[in-house]
Amino acid sequence: MDIRLRPWREEDEEFLTRYANDKEIARWLRDVFPYPYTQENARGFVAYCLAVDQERELLRVIEADGQAVGSISLTRGRDVECRSAELGYWLGRAFYGKGIMTEAVRQMCLLGLERWNIVRIFAQPYAQNLASCRVLEKAGFSREGLLHQSIWKWGQLQDSCIYALLRENLEQV
Ligand SMILES: CC(C)(COP(=O)(O)OP(=O)(O)OC[C@H]1O[C@@H](n2cnc3c(N)ncnc32)[C@H](O)[C@@H]1OP(=O)(O)O)[C@@H](O)C(=O)NCCC(=O)NCCS
Repeated sequence: MDIRLRPWREEDEEFLTRYANDKEIARWLRDVFPYPYTQENARGFVAYCLAVDQERELLRVIEADGQAVGSISLTRGRDVECRSAELGYWLGRAFYGKGIMTEAVRQMCLLGLERWNIVRIFAQPYAQNLASCRVLEKAGFSREGLLHQSIWKWGQLQDSCIYALLRENLEQV
């Protein structure tokens, strides 16, 4: 399968409306990713992506064999965290389990390290999100710790994990 990352376009509202309105996806993400996910949410997100400051955030559509299937982002830290960036991602449920996100994460990390003077990329999956933890491990991230009761999602406390990839780790590969 051919996996590529590309910038957002106006017409991506359509794939968002089709795949993002999924409770199974929303349950693992921050509340800023709504459920239900309406057409208005999709329009607002695409507008945000088209206007974003690329020095602060890299936002990409994941394409599998030419079809838009998911979203991936890298957000640069501020102030003393300016040499780090946080990774976020989701995939349409129909496309799970084909190795798509592992490849998308690899490509996004290379892009971020090439574009920005960062040394660290991290992600914070909920501890029960075993698929996401596995993706990060397969993409070369190390698990740095467990943050007890760090997440308040839909009325429940959850633990989360911190995973990170350092520039120096990639350069050694
Ligand atoms: C997490 C997510 C991105 C995974 O995408 P994907 O393309 O299916 O991931 P991949 O196919 O590259 O790899 C998934 C791995 O997790 C494993 N996995 C899947 N479900 C699992 C589970 N319940 N327990 C343990 N491992 C699991 C798969 O077997 C695979 O590992 P393997 O290659 O060693 O067999 C996707 O499920 C998703 O979008 N989830 C909702 C949003 C989300 O969780 N975003 C991340 C927030 S941090």
